[in-house]
Amino acid sequence: MSLPKDNKDSIPEPTKGLEGIVAADTNLSSVNGEKGILRYCGFNIDDLALDTTFEETICILYDYELPTEDRLSEMTKNIGEARVLPDEVVEVITKLVGKTSPMSTLRTVVSALGHYEKNVPLSELAPKALRLVGQIATAVAMIHRLREGLPIIKADPERGHAEDFLRMLHGDEPSKIQINALNLYLILLADHGFNASTFSARVTAGTLANLHSAITSAVGTLSGPLHGGANEKAMDMILEVGKPENASEYIENAFNNKQKIMGFGHRVYKVDDARRIHLKNMTELVCKENGNMEIYRTAEEIERQVRKRKSIITNVDFYSAPLLYELGIPTDLFTPLFAMSRVAGWTAHVLEQYKNNRLIRPRARYVGQIDRTFTPLQHRSEKRF
Ligand code: CMC
Repeated sequence: MSLPKDNKDSIPEPTKGLEGIVAADTNLSSVNGEKGILRYCGFNIDDLALDTTFEETICILYDYELPTEDRLSEMTKNIGEARVLPDEVVEVITKLVGKTSPMSTLRTVVSALGHYEKNVPLSELAPKALRLVGQIATAVAMIHRLREGLPIIKADPERGHAEDFLRMLHGDEPSKIQINALNLYLILLADHGFNASTFSARVTAGTLANLHSAITSAVGTLSGPLHGGANEKAMDMILEVGKPENASEYIENAFNNKQKIMGFGHRVYKVDDARRIHLKNMTELVCKENGNMEIYRTAEEIERQVRKRKSIITNVDFYSAPLLYELGIPTDLFTPLFAMSRVAGWTAHVLEQYKNNRLIRPRARYVGQIDRTFTPLQHRSEKRF
């Protein structure tokens, strides 16, 4: 690209999409894209996936340590008690449901919740952050109940987060497998390095804007189809394909039409997404329980057909889609569910940013014209465009 002389020399060429740029240090999660390993504070996700809960994951992300029994029960109690929304925020949801997408409603809810919090010193910010983790789950369930004209189900603080969410959403008792499946989903998606939404939360926090402003930025960023919105689109594709026999033709057409296939590809993972196998196995289990193996087999065949044609990895959004679908979650709640998990990581990152803050302020390389002649309005020709 030819650039104005005085710009060309002074500013280096930008890296499109900031690919490979290391923007900060973190003690929270590490993503090894070459080996397909994800760790939270040094603990491998493969171990956490097998034997923990979302609450324990939050302890790790907030404390950088495995919790004691007392710490875990305190966390479970606190998050349980946090699953309550101020009446005014319930009114906001009531006014918005049906008029806008659940993800847009959720963004407004997060912003509105900030009005009901006091300014507190940094040392007291963690309880406020945790409150938001609890409230987002309640808001997602409520958005669904209200738009369906169903009565709101109050949170039961005695229950685990995954179990209580499913109960608040569906109004009946979830099975053990369903609780485990949602727990797994919430654990696996809780944090992931400097993904786009976490980065936007940190940029906002870096200006010393408040916690709710940072999380509102993050919710908006997550909503895009190249990030959190991909799970919903992946499910639309699986349903459209319908059965395994249709997958080959569908994927062939998609590649021929240069379509991006949702749930595939990743900026960092080169061999495999560390979360994929856990989500895939759990999807199989839930589909078996539901007696609906067709969804699982269709997803598996789509994956096979994509991998046959291009060496792109299956990302977290692909198997998340049939998993959430089989848990009875409507597709337009998939991205809000992603937010319900990722809010653990977002808030942990905001706390980390505040602890060692410096304004995040990169530069842009100006590539437009310079030294143009300014003509006052009254002397401009009308035929300029
Ligand atoms: N379907 C078909 N081709 C793809 C896909 C895909 N999903 N993803 C990447 N490619 C191809 C792309 O066409 C390009 O090919 P070529 O070099 O021949 O032109 C190459 O792979 C590199 O792709 P890119 O778009 O330059 O890669 P990126 O690092 O900028 O984008 C991505 C990463 C995740 C945005 C992209 O893979 C994508 O759009 N995937 C579909 C949306 C999706 O599943 N998003 C969820 C991401 S993971 C969870 C999250 O962060 O929320």
